[in-house]
Amino acid sequence: MSATDTQSWTRIYSASDLAERTKAIVKQDGKQILLWRTEKAIYACNNRCPHEGYPLAEGTMAEGCILTCNWHNWKFDLESGETLVGGDALRLYPAKCEGDDILLDLSDPPPEELRAQALEGLREAFDEHEYERIARELGRFEQAGGGIYDALLQAFGWAADRYEFGITHAQAAAADWLTLRDSLSGAHVADRLVPAIEIVGHLSWDALMQRGPYPFAAGRAETWNAQQFEDAVESEDEAAAVRLLRAGLEDHGAVELRPALERAALRHYQNFGHTPIYLEKTFELVERFGERDLESLFLPLVRGLCMGAREDLIPEFHAYAPALEAWDETGTDVPSADDFRKAGVKACLDRISRAGGRVDELYDALMTASAEAMLAFDPQFRSHIDKPIQQNVDWLDFTHAVTHLNASRRICAHQPELWANAFAQTGCFLGRNATYVDWSRDLEAWKVEDPDAFLDGILTGMIDHDEPLYIYPAHVLKLATAVREEIALRPDAPFVPVLLAALNRFVNEPMKRKHPRRVARQALSFVEAQG
Ligand code: FES
Repeated sequence: MSATDTQSWTRIYSASDLAERTKAIVKQDGKQILLWRTEKAIYACNNRCPHEGYPLAEGTMAEGCILTCNWHNWKFDLESGETLVGGDALRLYPAKCEGDDILLDLSDPPPEELRAQALEGLREAFDEHEYERIARELGRFEQAGGGIYDALLQAFGWAADRYEFGITHAQAAAADWLTLRDSLSGAHVADRLVPAIEIVGHLSWDALMQRGPYPFAAGRAETWNAQQFEDAVESEDEAAAVRLLRAGLEDHGAVELRPALERAALRHYQNFGHTPIYLEKTFELVERFGERDLESLFLPLVRGLCMGAREDLIPEFHAYAPALEAWDETGTDVPSADDFRKAGVKACLDRISRAGGRVDELYDALMTASAEAMLAFDPQFRSHIDKPIQQNVDWLDFTHAVTHLNASRRICAHQPELWANAFAQTGCFLGRNATYVDWSRDLEAWKVEDPDAFLDGILTGMIDHDEPLYIYPAHVLKLATAVREEIALRPDAPFVPVLLAALNRFVNEPMKRKHPRRVARQALSFVEAQG
Protein backbone atom coordinates (compact mmCIF):
# COMPACT_ATOMS: atom_id res chain seq x y z
CA MET A 1 0.00 0.00 0.00
CA SER A 2 1.44 3.39 -0.95
CA ALA A 3 1.61 6.29 1.45
CA THR A 4 -1.10 8.06 -0.54
CA ASP A 5 -3.49 5.15 0.00
CA THR A 6 -3.31 5.60 3.75
CA GLN A 7 -3.76 9.36 3.74
CA SER A 8 -7.12 10.87 4.51
CA TRP A 9 -7.35 14.55 3.71
CA THR A 10 -9.77 16.69 5.66
CA ARG A 11 -10.72 20.25 4.86
CA ILE A 12 -9.74 22.15 7.95
CA TYR A 13 -9.52 25.87 7.31
CA SER A 14 -9.64 28.63 4.73
CA ALA A 15 -6.30 29.61 3.17
CA SER A 16 -7.35 33.26 2.82
CA ASP A 17 -8.39 33.45 6.48
CA LEU A 18 -5.05 32.00 7.56
CA ALA A 19 -3.23 34.45 5.28
CA GLU A 20 -4.83 37.25 7.31
CA ARG A 21 -4.21 35.75 10.75
CA THR A 22 -0.91 33.85 10.23
CA LYS A 23 -1.86 31.22 12.78
CA ALA A 24 -5.03 29.52 13.96
CA ILE A 25 -6.10 26.73 16.29
CA VAL A 26 -8.56 24.20 14.96
CA LYS A 27 -10.33 21.56 17.01
CA GLN A 28 -10.93 18.34 15.13
CA ASP A 29 -11.74 14.84 16.39
CA GLY A 30 -10.60 15.71 19.89
CA LYS A 31 -7.31 17.09 18.57
CA GLN A 32 -6.18 20.67 19.02
CA ILE A 33 -4.29 21.53 15.85
CA LEU A 34 -2.11 24.55 15.34
CA LEU A 35 -1.95 25.97 11.81
CA TRP A 36 0.85 28.38 11.06
CA ARG A 37 1.44 30.10 7.76
CA THR A 38 5.03 31.27 7.20
CA GLU A 39 6.96 32.57 4.24
CA LYS A 40 7.97 28.97 3.57
CA ALA A 41 4.75 26.99 3.83
CA ILE A 42 1.63 26.22 5.83
CA TYR A 43 2.46 23.96 8.77
CA ALA A 44 0.14 22.02 11.02
CA CYS A 45 1.11 20.44 14.34
CA ASN A 46 -0.37 19.48 17.67
CA ASN A 47 -0.92 22.65 19.64
CA ARG A 48 0.12 20.90 22.83
CA CYS A 49 3.87 20.95 23.33
CA PRO A 50 5.08 17.35 23.77
CA HIS A 51 7.12 18.45 26.75
CA GLU A 52 4.50 19.60 29.24
CA GLY A 53 1.50 20.36 27.08
CA TYR A 54 1.64 24.15 27.00
CA PRO A 55 0.15 25.77 23.86
CA LEU A 56 2.56 26.10 20.99
CA ALA A 57 0.32 28.80 19.52
CA GLU A 58 1.99 31.06 22.09
CA GLY A 59 5.39 30.11 20.73
CA THR A 60 7.72 31.99 18.42
CA MET A 61 8.40 31.14 14.77
CA ALA A 62 11.81 31.73 13.23
CA GLU A 63 13.38 31.02 9.85
CA GLY A 64 10.00 30.12 8.46
CA CYS A 65 9.82 26.72 10.17
CA ILE A 66 11.57 26.74 13.58
CA LEU A 67 8.91 26.91 16.28
CA THR A 68 10.04 27.68 19.83
CA CYS A 69 7.86 26.83 22.81
CA ASN A 70 8.34 29.75 25.12
CA TRP A 71 7.73 27.83 28.33
CA HIS A 72 11.00 25.89 28.37
CA ASN A 73 12.55 26.89 25.06
CA TRP A 74 12.18 23.60 23.24
CA LYS A 75 12.53 24.08 19.48
CA PHE A 76 10.88 22.13 16.70
CA ASP A 77 11.72 22.11 13.01
CA LEU A 78 8.31 21.92 11.36
CA GLU A 79 9.90 21.16 8.02
CA SER A 80 11.95 18.13 9.03
CA GLY A 81 9.91 17.13 12.08
CA GLU A 82 13.03 17.15 14.25
CA THR A 83 13.04 18.29 17.86
CA LEU A 84 16.07 20.56 17.80
CA VAL A 85 16.13 21.45 21.50
CA GLY A 86 14.38 19.23 24.02
CA GLY A 87 13.32 15.63 23.66
CA ASP A 88 9.93 14.30 22.65
CA ALA A 89 8.76 14.41 19.05
CA LEU A 90 6.03 16.86 18.04
CA ARG A 91 3.13 15.46 16.07
CA LEU A 92 2.98 17.12 12.63
CA TYR A 93 0.15 16.85 10.12
CA PRO A 94 0.84 16.99 6.38
CA ALA A 95 -0.93 20.00 4.85
CA LYS A 96 -1.89 21.04 1.31
CA CYS A 97 -4.10 23.66 -0.35
CA GLU A 98 -6.85 23.05 -2.85
CA GLY A 99 -8.28 26.34 -3.99
CA ASP A 100 -8.99 28.25 -0.79
CA ASP A 101 -9.14 25.11 1.27
CA ILE A 102 -6.39 23.94 3.59
CA LEU A 103 -6.50 20.20 3.87
CA LEU A 104 -4.72 18.15 6.51
CA ASP A 105 -3.93 14.50 6.59
CA LEU A 106 -5.22 13.56 10.02
CA SER A 107 -4.75 9.84 9.68
CA ASP A 108 -2.83 8.34 12.54
CA PRO A 109 0.40 6.54 11.74
CA PRO A 110 0.18 2.76 12.06
CA PRO A 111 0.36 1.64 15.72
CA GLU A 112 3.65 -0.20 15.14
CA GLU A 113 5.17 3.06 13.94
CA LEU A 114 3.89 4.87 17.03
CA ARG A 115 5.25 2.14 19.27
CA ALA A 116 8.64 2.26 17.57
CA GLN A 117 8.71 6.03 17.97
CA ALA A 118 7.80 5.76 21.65
CA LEU A 119 10.56 3.19 22.22
CA GLU A 120 13.04 5.42 20.46
CA GLY A 121 11.99 8.24 22.76
CA LEU A 122 12.17 5.94 25.76
CA ARG A 123 15.72 5.01 24.82
CA GLU A 124 16.71 8.67 24.69
CA ALA A 125 15.02 9.29 28.03
CA PHE A 126 16.80 6.22 29.47
CA ASP A 127 20.19 7.46 28.31
CA GLU A 128 19.66 10.86 29.90
CA HIS A 129 17.67 9.65 32.90
CA GLU A 130 14.75 11.98 32.12
CA TYR A 131 12.18 10.72 34.60
CA GLU A 132 9.19 12.65 33.26
CA ARG A 133 9.99 11.75 29.67
CA ILE A 134 10.27 8.11 30.65
CA ALA A 135 6.70 8.44 31.93
CA ARG A 136 5.48 10.13 28.76
CA GLU A 137 7.09 7.65 26.39
CA LEU A 138 5.81 4.67 28.36
CA GLY A 139 2.37 6.28 28.24
CA ARG A 140 2.67 6.74 24.47
CA PHE A 141 3.83 3.15 24.04
CA GLU A 142 0.84 1.80 25.96
CA GLN A 143 -1.53 4.17 24.18
CA ALA A 144 -0.31 2.73 20.87
CA GLY A 145 -1.20 -0.76 22.07
CA GLY A 146 2.22 -1.76 23.38
CA GLY A 147 2.48 -4.18 26.29
CA ILE A 148 4.37 -2.77 29.23
CA TYR A 149 6.54 -5.90 29.53
CA ASP A 150 7.80 -5.31 25.97
CA ALA A 151 8.93 -1.82 26.91
CA LEU A 152 10.56 -3.09 30.12
CA LEU A 153 12.44 -5.80 28.27
CA GLN A 154 13.86 -3.14 25.99
CA ALA A 155 15.05 -1.21 29.04
CA PHE A 156 16.68 -4.32 30.51
CA GLY A 157 18.43 -4.77 27.16
CA TRP A 158 19.79 -1.21 27.22
CA ALA A 159 20.94 -1.64 30.82
CA ALA A 160 22.52 -5.09 30.60
CA ASP A 161 26.14 -4.19 29.82
CA ARG A 162 26.15 -0.87 31.64
CA TYR A 163 26.99 -2.22 35.08
CA GLU A 164 30.62 -2.88 35.91
CA PHE A 165 29.80 -5.29 38.73
CA GLY A 166 26.72 -6.74 37.12
CA ILE A 167 23.15 -6.87 38.35
CA THR A 168 21.92 -4.13 40.66
CA HIS A 169 18.92 -3.60 42.88
CA ALA A 170 17.11 -2.10 39.91
CA GLN A 171 16.55 -5.59 38.49
CA ALA A 172 15.51 -7.07 41.82
CA ALA A 173 13.18 -4.19 42.59
CA ALA A 174 11.57 -4.58 39.17
CA ALA A 175 10.04 -7.88 40.26
CA ASP A 176 8.61 -6.26 43.38
CA TRP A 177 7.28 -3.27 41.48
CA LEU A 178 5.49 -5.62 39.10
CA THR A 179 4.02 -7.58 42.00
CA LEU A 180 2.72 -4.29 43.32
CA ARG A 181 1.37 -3.44 39.86
CA ASP A 182 -0.62 -6.68 39.87
CA SER A 183 -2.34 -5.60 43.06
CA LEU A 184 -3.45 -2.34 41.42
CA SER A 185 -5.76 -3.92 38.86
CA GLY A 186 -8.67 -1.67 39.84
CA ALA A 187 -6.58 1.45 40.32
CA HIS A 188 -6.27 4.52 38.13
CA VAL A 189 -4.38 3.79 34.93
CA ALA A 190 -1.70 6.31 35.95
CA ASP A 191 -1.07 4.45 39.21
CA ARG A 192 -0.48 1.31 37.20
CA LEU A 193 2.11 3.14 35.15
CA VAL A 194 4.16 4.15 38.21
CA PRO A 195 5.89 0.75 38.67
CA ALA A 196 7.05 0.78 35.06
CA ILE A 197 8.36 4.34 35.37
CA GLU A 198 10.24 3.42 38.54
CA ILE A 199 11.73 0.32 36.93
CA VAL A 200 13.01 2.11 33.84
CA GLY A 201 14.11 5.08 35.93
CA HIS A 202 16.09 2.91 38.34
CA LEU A 203 17.77 0.92 35.55
CA SER A 204 18.63 4.18 33.84
CA TRP A 205 19.98 5.80 37.00
CA ASP A 206 22.22 2.87 37.85
CA ALA A 207 23.52 2.85 34.27
CA LEU A 208 24.19 6.56 34.32
CA MET A 209 26.17 6.31 37.54
CA GLN A 210 28.71 3.99 35.90
CA ARG A 211 31.11 4.54 33.08
CA GLY A 212 29.95 1.66 30.88
CA PRO A 213 29.37 0.00 28.61
CA TYR A 214 31.22 -3.03 29.88
CA PRO A 215 30.71 -5.50 27.05
CA PHE A 216 30.19 -9.19 27.70
CA ALA A 217 32.31 -11.81 25.98
CA ALA A 218 30.92 -12.84 22.62
CA GLY A 219 29.93 -16.34 21.55
CA ARG A 220 28.60 -19.41 23.27
CA ALA A 221 29.97 -22.68 24.54
CA GLU A 222 29.23 -25.76 22.53
CA THR A 223 26.98 -27.18 25.21
CA TRP A 224 25.63 -26.21 28.60
CA ASN A 225 27.47 -27.88 31.46
CA ALA A 226 26.37 -27.09 34.99
CA GLN A 227 29.62 -28.11 36.67
CA GLN A 228 31.74 -26.12 34.24
CA PHE A 229 29.46 -23.15 34.80
CA GLU A 230 29.82 -23.33 38.57
CA ASP A 231 33.59 -23.73 38.21
CA ALA A 232 33.73 -20.68 35.94
CA VAL A 233 31.80 -18.61 38.46
CA GLU A 234 34.00 -19.85 41.27
CA SER A 235 37.16 -18.87 39.43
CA GLU A 236 35.60 -15.52 38.45
CA ASP A 237 35.98 -16.42 34.78
CA GLU A 238 33.13 -14.27 33.53
CA ALA A 239 33.76 -14.94 29.84
CA ALA A 240 33.52 -18.71 30.27
CA ALA A 241 30.45 -18.40 32.52
CA VAL A 242 28.73 -16.11 30.01
CA ARG A 243 29.40 -18.45 27.09
CA LEU A 244 28.09 -21.43 29.03
CA LEU A 245 25.05 -19.44 30.08
CA ARG A 246 24.25 -18.59 26.46
CA ALA A 247 24.48 -22.24 25.50
CA GLY A 248 22.18 -23.13 28.36
CA LEU A 249 19.62 -20.45 27.59
CA GLU A 250 19.56 -21.23 23.89
CA ASP A 251 19.46 -25.01 24.18
CA HIS A 252 17.48 -25.57 27.37
CA GLY A 253 15.88 -22.37 28.66
CA ALA A 254 16.36 -20.57 31.96
CA VAL A 255 14.53 -23.05 34.18
CA GLU A 256 17.00 -25.82 33.40
CA LEU A 257 19.86 -23.58 34.49
CA ARG A 258 18.29 -22.69 37.78
CA PRO A 259 19.88 -25.33 40.05
CA ALA A 260 23.41 -24.42 38.97
CA LEU A 261 22.71 -20.72 39.37
CA GLU A 262 21.27 -21.32 42.81
CA ARG A 263 24.25 -23.35 43.94
CA ALA A 264 26.55 -20.59 42.71
CA ALA A 265 24.43 -17.96 44.47
CA LEU A 266 24.52 -19.68 47.84
CA ARG A 267 28.04 -21.03 47.72
CA HIS A 268 29.53 -17.97 49.40
CA TYR A 269 28.30 -15.44 51.88
CA GLN A 270 28.61 -13.05 49.02
CA ASN A 271 27.85 -9.50 48.15
CA PHE A 272 26.41 -9.04 51.62
CA GLY A 273 23.69 -11.57 50.94
CA HIS A 274 22.33 -9.92 47.81
CA THR A 275 23.03 -12.71 45.37
CA PRO A 276 20.23 -15.17 46.26
CA ILE A 277 17.79 -12.26 46.40
CA TYR A 278 18.80 -11.09 42.94
CA LEU A 279 18.53 -14.61 41.60
CA GLU A 280 15.04 -15.20 42.92
CA LYS A 281 13.80 -11.84 41.69
CA THR A 282 15.27 -12.55 38.27
CA PHE A 283 13.32 -15.80 38.06
CA GLU A 284 10.18 -13.90 39.03
CA LEU A 285 10.81 -11.74 35.99
CA VAL A 286 11.31 -14.82 33.84
CA GLU A 287 7.90 -16.08 34.92
CA ARG A 288 6.38 -12.81 33.80
CA PHE A 289 8.26 -12.21 30.60
CA GLY A 290 8.47 -15.81 29.43
CA GLU A 291 11.50 -17.28 27.76
CA ARG A 292 12.42 -14.31 25.57
CA ASP A 293 15.29 -11.85 25.56
CA LEU A 294 16.58 -13.52 28.69
CA GLU A 295 20.21 -12.61 28.10
CA SER A 296 19.36 -9.09 29.24
CA LEU A 297 18.38 -10.46 32.63
CA PHE A 298 20.92 -13.22 33.05
CA LEU A 299 24.16 -11.71 31.75
CA PRO A 300 24.20 -9.03 34.50
CA LEU A 301 23.25 -11.70 37.02
CA VAL A 302 26.18 -13.91 36.00
CA ARG A 303 28.52 -10.93 36.12
CA GLY A 304 27.24 -10.26 39.63
CA LEU A 305 27.91 -13.87 40.61
CA CYS A 306 31.47 -13.67 39.30
CA MET A 307 32.28 -10.20 40.61
CA GLY A 308 30.49 -10.23 43.94
CA ALA A 309 32.66 -9.85 47.04
CA ARG A 310 32.95 -13.18 48.87
CA GLU A 311 32.68 -12.04 52.43
CA ASP A 312 33.01 -15.50 53.92
CA LEU A 313 36.69 -15.28 52.91
CA ILE A 314 37.33 -12.23 55.09
CA PRO A 315 38.37 -12.65 58.75
CA GLU A 316 35.03 -11.53 60.18
CA PHE A 317 33.26 -14.50 58.63
CA HIS A 318 35.96 -17.18 58.64
CA ALA A 319 33.73 -19.44 60.71
CA TYR A 320 31.40 -19.85 57.72
CA ALA A 321 33.26 -22.71 56.00
CA PRO A 322 33.84 -24.75 59.21
CA ALA A 323 30.15 -24.33 60.05
CA LEU A 324 29.19 -25.89 56.74
CA GLU A 325 31.55 -28.79 57.38
CA ALA A 326 30.12 -29.29 60.85
CA TRP A 327 26.52 -29.26 59.60
CA ASP A 328 24.99 -32.60 60.44
CA GLU A 329 21.59 -33.57 59.08
CA THR A 330 20.86 -35.40 62.32
CA GLY A 331 21.27 -32.47 64.69
CA THR A 332 19.30 -32.92 67.89
CA ASP A 333 19.88 -29.60 69.58
CA VAL A 334 16.57 -27.72 69.07
CA PRO A 335 17.30 -24.05 68.38
CA SER A 336 15.42 -20.98 69.55
CA ALA A 337 15.63 -17.30 68.65
CA ASP A 338 17.07 -16.58 72.10
CA ASP A 339 20.16 -18.60 71.21
CA PHE A 340 21.10 -15.95 68.65
CA ARG A 341 20.22 -12.80 70.54
CA LYS A 342 23.62 -11.78 71.77
CA ALA A 343 25.80 -14.21 69.89
CA GLY A 344 28.66 -13.14 67.63
CA VAL A 345 29.34 -14.65 64.21
CA LYS A 346 31.17 -17.74 65.41
CA ALA A 347 28.69 -18.46 68.18
CA CYS A 348 25.76 -18.13 65.77
CA LEU A 349 27.41 -20.43 63.26
CA ASP A 350 28.27 -23.01 65.92
CA ARG A 351 24.70 -22.95 67.13
CA ILE A 352 23.35 -23.44 63.62
CA SER A 353 25.69 -26.39 63.02
CA ARG A 354 24.53 -28.05 66.22
CA ALA A 355 20.91 -27.80 65.09
CA GLY A 356 21.89 -29.70 61.95
CA GLY A 357 19.00 -30.78 59.77
CA ARG A 358 16.25 -29.24 61.94
CA VAL A 359 15.24 -27.01 59.07
CA ASP A 360 11.81 -25.86 60.18
CA GLU A 361 12.90 -24.99 63.71
CA LEU A 362 16.03 -23.25 62.49
CA TYR A 363 14.06 -21.23 59.98
CA ASP A 364 11.65 -20.00 62.62
CA ALA A 365 14.42 -19.26 65.09
CA LEU A 366 16.56 -17.40 62.57
CA MET A 367 13.70 -15.41 61.08
CA THR A 368 12.55 -14.44 64.56
CA ALA A 369 16.08 -13.50 65.60
CA SER A 370 16.63 -11.47 62.42
CA ALA A 371 13.40 -9.54 62.94
CA GLU A 372 14.12 -9.01 66.64
CA ALA A 373 17.55 -7.63 65.86
CA MET A 374 16.00 -5.20 63.40
CA LEU A 375 13.49 -4.16 65.99
CA ALA A 376 16.26 -3.59 68.52
CA PHE A 377 18.71 -1.83 66.17
CA ASP A 378 20.35 1.00 68.05
CA PRO A 379 20.15 4.04 65.76
CA GLN A 380 23.11 5.76 67.39
CA PHE A 381 25.34 3.46 65.33
CA ARG A 382 23.78 4.84 62.17
CA SER A 383 25.06 8.32 62.84
CA HIS A 384 28.54 7.78 64.29
CA ILE A 385 31.36 9.75 62.75
CA ASP A 386 34.38 8.53 64.66
CA LYS A 387 34.41 4.76 64.31
CA PRO A 388 36.29 2.61 61.81
CA ILE A 389 34.73 2.02 58.42
CA GLN A 390 33.85 -1.60 59.22
CA GLN A 391 31.42 -0.30 61.82
CA ASN A 392 29.34 1.63 59.31
CA VAL A 393 25.93 0.14 59.79
CA ASP A 394 22.37 1.08 58.97
CA TRP A 395 18.92 -0.33 58.52
CA LEU A 396 19.77 -2.20 55.37
CA ASP A 397 22.24 -4.42 57.24
CA PHE A 398 19.23 -5.66 59.16
CA THR A 399 16.61 -5.77 56.42
CA HIS A 400 18.88 -7.92 54.29
CA ALA A 401 19.02 -10.62 56.94
CA VAL A 402 15.25 -11.02 56.50
CA THR A 403 15.07 -10.73 52.72
CA HIS A 404 18.07 -13.04 52.29
CA LEU A 405 16.41 -15.71 54.39
CA ASN A 406 13.16 -15.23 52.48
CA ALA A 407 14.95 -15.72 49.13
CA SER A 408 16.90 -18.67 50.49
CA ARG A 409 13.67 -20.39 51.52
CA ARG A 410 12.51 -20.35 47.94
CA ILE A 411 15.80 -21.73 46.68
CA CYS A 412 16.02 -24.45 49.31
CA ALA A 413 12.44 -25.54 48.64
CA HIS A 414 13.77 -27.33 45.58
CA GLN A 415 17.40 -27.69 46.62
CA PRO A 416 17.21 -28.68 50.31
CA GLU A 417 20.90 -29.55 50.35
CA LEU A 418 21.52 -25.79 50.29
CA TRP A 419 19.85 -25.15 53.64
CA ALA A 420 23.16 -25.36 55.45
CA ASN A 421 24.58 -22.56 53.27
CA ALA A 422 21.47 -20.46 53.65
CA PHE A 423 21.36 -20.75 57.43
CA ALA A 424 25.09 -20.23 57.85
CA GLN A 425 24.77 -17.01 55.87
CA THR A 426 21.94 -15.86 58.11
CA GLY A 427 24.26 -16.63 61.01
CA CYS A 428 26.80 -14.23 59.49
CA PHE A 429 24.17 -11.50 59.36
CA LEU A 430 23.00 -12.12 62.89
CA GLY A 431 26.45 -12.37 64.41
CA ARG A 432 27.60 -9.14 62.82
CA ASN A 433 24.43 -7.23 63.62
CA ALA A 434 24.44 -8.32 67.28
CA THR A 435 27.00 -5.61 68.03
CA TYR A 436 24.60 -2.88 66.99
CA VAL A 437 21.44 -3.68 68.91
CA ASP A 438 20.09 -2.40 72.17
CA TRP A 439 18.06 -5.11 73.83
CA SER A 440 16.69 -2.69 76.40
CA ARG A 441 14.53 -1.11 73.69
CA ASP A 442 10.79 -1.55 73.97
CA LEU A 443 10.09 -4.25 71.41
CA GLU A 444 6.34 -3.94 71.94
CA ALA A 445 6.21 -0.33 70.79
CA TRP A 446 5.94 -1.21 67.11
CA LYS A 447 3.32 -3.91 67.39
CA VAL A 448 1.01 -4.14 64.36
CA GLU A 449 -2.69 -4.72 65.08
CA ASP A 450 -4.03 -5.18 61.56
CA PRO A 451 -1.39 -6.83 59.32
CA ASP A 452 -3.39 -6.66 56.08
CA ALA A 453 -4.21 -2.97 56.39
CA PHE A 454 -0.64 -2.25 57.51
CA LEU A 455 0.94 -4.03 54.54
CA ASP A 456 -1.58 -2.59 52.08
CA GLY A 457 -0.81 0.87 53.38
CA ILE A 458 2.95 0.46 52.92
CA LEU A 459 2.75 -1.11 49.49
CA THR A 460 0.15 1.13 47.91
CA GLY A 461 1.89 4.10 49.53
CA MET A 462 4.92 3.30 47.38
CA ILE A 463 3.00 4.49 44.33
CA ASP A 464 3.48 8.05 45.55
CA HIS A 465 6.70 7.76 47.55
CA ASP A 466 8.86 10.84 47.97
CA GLU A 467 12.32 9.32 48.05
CA PRO A 468 14.69 11.00 45.63
CA LEU A 469 16.91 7.93 45.35
CA TYR A 470 15.54 4.72 43.88
CA ILE A 471 17.38 2.50 46.30
CA TYR A 472 15.24 3.35 49.33
CA PRO A 473 11.81 2.59 47.92
CA ALA A 474 13.39 -0.53 46.41
CA HIS A 475 14.27 -1.74 49.91
CA VAL A 476 10.93 -0.86 51.44
CA LEU A 477 9.20 -2.75 48.64
CA LYS A 478 11.55 -5.70 48.94
CA LEU A 479 11.10 -6.06 52.66
CA ALA A 480 7.33 -5.47 52.67
CA THR A 481 6.88 -7.93 49.79
CA ALA A 482 8.96 -10.55 51.62
CA VAL A 483 7.03 -10.04 54.86
CA ARG A 484 3.72 -10.35 53.02
CA GLU A 485 4.90 -13.54 51.35
CA GLU A 486 6.09 -15.08 54.63
CA ILE A 487 2.77 -14.30 56.30
CA ALA A 488 0.73 -15.59 53.35
CA LEU A 489 2.61 -18.88 53.51
CA ARG A 490 2.36 -19.32 57.26
CA PRO A 491 0.05 -16.83 58.97
CA ASP A 492 0.62 -18.47 62.34
CA ALA A 493 4.39 -18.75 62.14
CA PRO A 494 5.99 -17.67 65.43
CA PHE A 495 8.00 -14.91 63.77
CA VAL A 496 4.99 -13.11 62.23
CA PRO A 497 4.32 -10.53 65.00
CA VAL A 498 7.95 -9.54 65.39
CA LEU A 499 8.49 -9.41 61.64
CA LEU A 500 5.57 -7.02 61.25
CA ALA A 501 6.81 -4.89 64.13
CA ALA A 502 10.31 -4.74 62.65
CA LEU A 503 8.90 -3.61 59.31
CA ASN A 504 6.78 -1.05 61.12
CA ARG A 505 9.83 0.43 62.77
CA PHE A 506 11.85 0.37 59.55
CA VAL A 507 9.29 2.34 57.53
CA ASN A 508 8.61 4.83 60.29
CA GLU A 509 12.07 5.69 61.56
CA PRO A 510 14.15 7.96 59.37
CA MET A 511 17.09 6.57 57.47
CA LYS A 512 20.23 8.68 57.33
CA ARG A 513 20.84 9.07 53.61
CA LYS A 514 24.26 10.61 53.61
CA HIS A 515 27.24 10.82 55.95
CA PRO A 516 29.50 13.65 54.78
CA ARG A 517 31.37 14.10 58.10
CA ARG A 518 31.87 10.39 58.57
CA VAL A 519 33.07 9.95 55.01
CA ALA A 520 35.54 12.79 55.42
CA ARG A 521 36.90 11.50 58.73
CA GLN A 522 37.22 7.92 57.56
CA ALA A 523 38.86 9.03 54.34
CA LEU A 524 41.44 11.11 56.17
CA SER A 525 42.15 8.40 58.67
CA PHE A 526 42.74 5.95 55.84
CA VAL A 527 44.84 8.37 53.84
CA GLU A 528 46.98 9.23 56.86
CA ALA A 529 47.54 5.55 57.58
CA GLN A 530 48.71 5.06 54.02
CA GLY A 531 51.54 7.48 54.69
S1 FES B 1 6.03 22.91 27.63
FE1 FES B 1 6.98 23.45 25.79
S2 FES B 1 9.03 23.45 26.26
FE2 FES B 1 8.10 22.88 28.07
